[in-house]
Amino acid sequence: MSKIIAPSILAADFCNLQRDVEMVNTSDAEWFHIDIMDGVFVPNISFGMPVLEAINKHANKFIDVHLMIVDPDRYTKTFADLGANMLTVHYEASTHLHRNIQNIKSYGMKAGVALNPHTPVHLLQDIIQDLDMVCLMSVNPGFGGQHFIENTYPKIKELRTLIEAKNASTLIEIDGGVNNKNAGKLIAQGADVLVAGSFVFKSNKPIETISELKQIANT
Ligand code: DX5
Ligand code: ZN
Repeated sequence: MSKIIAPSILAADFCNLQRDVEMVNTSDAEWFHIDIMDGVFVPNISFGMPVLEAINKHANKFIDVHLMIVDPDRYTKTFADLGANMLTVHYEASTHLHRNIQNIKSYGMKAGVALNPHTPVHLLQDIIQDLDMVCLMSVNPGFGGQHFIENTYPKIKELRTLIEAKNASTLIEIDGGVNNKNAGKLIAQGADVLVAGSFVFKSNKPIETISELKQIANT
């Protein structure tokens, strides 16, 4: 399967959001990555429903929503109505994760679980077969533009081994500090989806930067 690039809108220019959404539309990226933060689960507030609604009016690619909020199941239906194609909740924020995942799927969305850098992969062994995606956080969630945490590499390998052992078809997404220096190694360890915020949107030529990531990921 071809590897997926998911530009993170958190790093876009919010005064030129339509322009940046259209840039992603015309690029080699397959997904939009949308970070929703509540100021409780993470020490930052990003943007909420009206902004996602506006993005969805212009976006013509798969919408990958990453919820960094406590008790995420309260908003499953809301994000389904807003057009999310994948809804990812944090392992650390969901008490009844199995119910939460089934609920996400019942609305026709793909279901993902994100793990903070300190959360071990083996905690997913009894739910991996239900997951369309696992998002390994390679920074502490809450902010764009942070440095990549190197311990992500062995976690990818361990997750790939778990997925294969359970005969699951779960995608592995890497989120945080992704750039053209670590993309190749992330894919080599077993990643399927690379989220990139600052590296794409701070680039003078974001379309070319996305193509570069796409090429690295697929060679
Ligand atoms: C961090 C977010 C990331 C962030 C990545 O909490 O989940 O998606 O936008 O941004 P960069 O690529 O700048 O690390
Ligand atoms: Zn994210």
